[in-house]
Amino acid sequence: MPLYKATIAATASYLPEKVVTNHDLTKTLDTSHEWIFDRSGISSRHIAADDEPASAMGIKAVRKLLEKHPINPADIDLIIVPTSTPDMVFPATACIIQSAIGATNAGVFDLSAACSGYVFSINTAAVFIESGKYKNVLVVATEKYSTILNWQDRSTAFLFGDAANATLLTRAEEGHGIIAMHGGTDGGKPELLCIPAGGSKNPVTAETVKNRMSTVHMKGGDVYKNAVPRFTETIEAVIAKAGLRKEDIALIIPHQANIRIIKTVAKELGMSADKFMVNLEHYANTSSASIGLALEEALAAGRIRTGDYVVLSAFGAGFSWGSTLIRW
Ligand SMILES: CC(C)(COP(=O)(O)OP(=O)(O)OC[C@H]1O[C@@H](n2cnc3c(N)ncnc32)[C@H](O)[C@@H]1OP(=O)(O)O)[C@@H](O)C(=O)NCCC(=O)NCCS
Repeated sequence: MPLYKATIAATASYLPEKVVTNHDLTKTLDTSHEWIFDRSGISSRHIAADDEPASAMGIKAVRKLLEKHPINPADIDLIIVPTSTPDMVFPATACIIQSAIGATNAGVFDLSAACSGYVFSINTAAVFIESGKYKNVLVVATEKYSTILNWQDRSTAFLFGDAANATLLTRAEEGHGIIAMHGGTDGGKPELLCIPAGGSKNPVTAETVKNRMSTVHMKGGDVYKNAVPRFTETIEAVIAKAGLRKEDIALIIPHQANIRIIKTVAKELGMSADKFMVNLEHYANTSSASIGLALEEALAAGRIRTGDYVVLSAFGAGFSWGSTLIRW
């Protein structure tokens, strides 16, 4: 039995100023707003400035969080930074954020799980808190996908956007907090969604640069076909682990990849699409930042009340998937 329960104390997001609409993309790509919107539900995305790396966006999200929920940065025990777009391969982007926010007593690390990064980080943070080892854990999901997209590839460029979210986890009060978690992986076909070069398998060479191998490569149809059953499986699993029924769930906050995936998952689960938080239209897929962004909006809109059962659920490259069930 865990010594404590963990919960989300506060969350805050940062979106870069520049907005790029689907119409803007038609100036450089053979596409249309209608095609993109019909296939994905996306109409625009935010793009970070050239001098704004992932750490800078993450730091801005943390500053907003600390305004909302003041805590002495020296009391933060651990910082986890899920990201696919770290400032550098090393040191971890978490180190840069730690120094900027003055978290002088925090251990830190980056977590690589692509779009599943937020849920995996929340679950990892929760286990540290449950064990009694740490009290305050900060998750800073920050993504600058604009730097890893091939802007000449019409089948991937429209899907992603830049953003950051900071979420603070702490000990829950009696009767509240994270009550179940679930995770899964199938690493059999990493090539279906990957960045082929820039790692130790294919180091950067003039050839890899010429062939744009350091950008996102995706077989969209295969990703879609895997996403639907895996989301369905992990949501069902986490609800069952908590000993609850689907009817008990007030809100599901899925990773914001594509409106069609979310609607199909709702149908597969036999749940109303109204129970799914969706805000991807103006942000696109912000990878590990997306669930935090949607959670903050759901809270601001009054869609989560004290005592509600809320599921956070993700699917991403790997393939990887997972969920968290929280009694708010
Ligand atoms: C990417 C996605 C929207 C594409 O939709 P799709 O229905 O599978 O479309 P296809 O890839 O089969 O392409 C259909 C046609 O549209 C074309 N097309 C692709 N992108 C286009 C674009 N931006 N504008 C216009 N046409 C486009 C293709 O070239 C293809 O043309 P063809 O039939 O002449 O060959 C869809 O596969 C998807 O959402 N996949 C999941 C992606 C995802 O969520 N990834 C992140 C997971 S965390």
